[in-house]
Amino acid sequence: MGIQITPSILNADFARLGEEVARIPGADWVHVDVMDNHFVPNLTLGPTMVEALVRSTDLPIDAHLMIEDADRNAAAYVEAGAASVTFHVEAARAPVRLAREIRAGGARASMALRPATPIEPYEELLPELDMLLIMTVEPGFGGQRFLDLCLPKIRAARAMLDRHGIETWLQVDGGVSLETIERCAAAGADTFVAGSAVYSADDPDRMVAELRAAAEAARA
Ligand code: DX5
Ligand code: ZN
Repeated sequence: MGIQITPSILNADFARLGEEVARIPGADWVHVDVMDNHFVPNLTLGPTMVEALVRSTDLPIDAHLMIEDADRNAAAYVEAGAASVTFHVEAARAPVRLAREIRAGGARASMALRPATPIEPYEELLPELDMLLIMTVEPGFGGQRFLDLCLPKIRAARAMLDRHGIETWLQVDGGVSLETIERCAAAGADTFVAGSAVYSADDPDRMVAELRAAAEAARA
């Protein structure tokens, strides 16, 4: 799997989201952070907005659901047209069933771990997933400091994926910037979410290219 750069629109201008997404034509995906004010202490947007974003861009939508009761609530984002749907394992009662339902609905199934959630209990689940997301901040807000304590978990996840010989992508999200992306890539991540680093740049699309170059150099 090559390197993929997935800007998060959490720190973009929510009054002009269509235009904001049009500023990153070089991105691989658009990362949309869905927050319900219960799983995380912040509230963003729901399936109607995801559906509008799907219509507004040719880039595939990567929906990151930071919401309670993922088992019941994830289907709406598959129906809204998200090409990838990530649920948090801490918010899912039946992650295997949920991953299978997401895949059956035609989206890529992805599972996220908060910084304090270990990967080891989920090793046998990895073949059910198209992507594993390892959070590198506590979810809820953009612009937080990258947590280096998550790097060993990225390395452990990479070793598990290689051992099982499966193609599941390994995504990192939180505090990813030109300063931190190399560490993540060297640890084995291949899919990088970056919010404030991209949308605080004068030229967001150039930042996407710079992040990609840095990650590719660190992986080589
Ligand atoms: C945090 C979100 C992230 C956030 C990343 O809960 O899941 O996707 O937008 O923003 P930065 O890159 O600024 O940490
Ligand atoms: Zn996110």
